[in-house]
Formats: sequence, C-alpha cells, structure tokens
Amino acid sequence: MERTFVMIKPDGVKRGLVGTILQRYEQKGLTLVAAKLLTVSRQLAEEHYREHSSKPFFRELVDYITSGPVFAMVLEGENAIKLVRLLNGATKVEEALPGTIRGDFATSTTHNLVHASDSPENARREINLWFPEL
Ligand code: TYD
Ligand code: MG
Repeated sequence: MERTFVMIKPDGVKRGLVGTILQRYEQKGLTLVAAKLLTVSRQLAEEHYREHSSKPFFRELVDYITSGPVFAMVLEGENAIKLVRLLNGATKVEEALPGTIRGDFATSTTHNLVHASDSPENARREINLWFPEL
C-alpha cells in the first residue's frame, strides 16, 4: 500500500468540483486517509513548491495557491502515486487528454485544478508538511 498527497486547488473548490474530483479517485479504488479544507499561507505554498522556486511561473503559482481555500488530502492504495497522476492528466493544458481531470475540466496550465505527489520521496515530504499528525 502506498500513500500520496493530493490537493484540489482553489479553482476546483470555487467551481464546486470537490465531489466530482474526489469521486474519480474513489471510483478508481483509492481510499481517503485524511482530508481538510484550508486557506494556504504563502509560507506553506512556497515550501510545498520549493523545487520550483527559481522558475518564471513561481510567483504566479504561489499567488494562485493562496487565492482561496484548497482541499488537501492523503489517498492510499496500490500504486497510488502513479495512479493519481494518471487520473489528473498532463500538466500542460493543451496536453491533458480527455478523460483525465485536467483534460476534462482545467482551463489553463496554471489553473489546472489538482496537485499530486510525483515520487515516493515527495509524497513523504508533502504528507509530513500538510498532515504532520499522520
Ligand atoms: P509541475 O510540478 O511541473 O506540474 P504538476 O502539477 O503536474 O506536478 O508544476 C507545478 C505547477 O506549476 C503546475 O501544476 C502548474 C504550474 N506551472 C505553470 O504555471 N507553468 C508551467 O510552465 C509549469 C511547468 C507549471
Ligand atoms: Mg509537481
């Protein structure tokens, strides 16, 4: 069993897509281990996305993630890390295929609805950061 950190970003919450998105993960057989709705501080957003701190889109990304409440969660299942990224779809809006969450709902690369850990190391780091009690 593997755990991964997943976040529905502010546009997903604002557009009322939390239930729809969560259903896709649950339908795939992943189990919700923890979840919370919270408004993210700049400090948490910058720490979460620290690997991107030198990228040209970093400022816009942090502005966006802190712009309204997010729905943060931990999902568990076999191959959970890869499965959730497959369900989320490609990062770039023009590459996200229909049938994926981003492909079906995202409006831009920045406003791409969902985050998910991309490796076991990052999953561990992100779960510790967002859910230190786990
Ligand atoms: P990244 O970790 O590369 O993508 P993913 O979310 O699929 O793991 O990038 C983090 C976020 O940064 C991404 O979800 C959206 C934003 N972003 C941009 O705004 N512009 C870009 O060119 C890239 C690569 C990412
Ligand atoms: Mg990433």
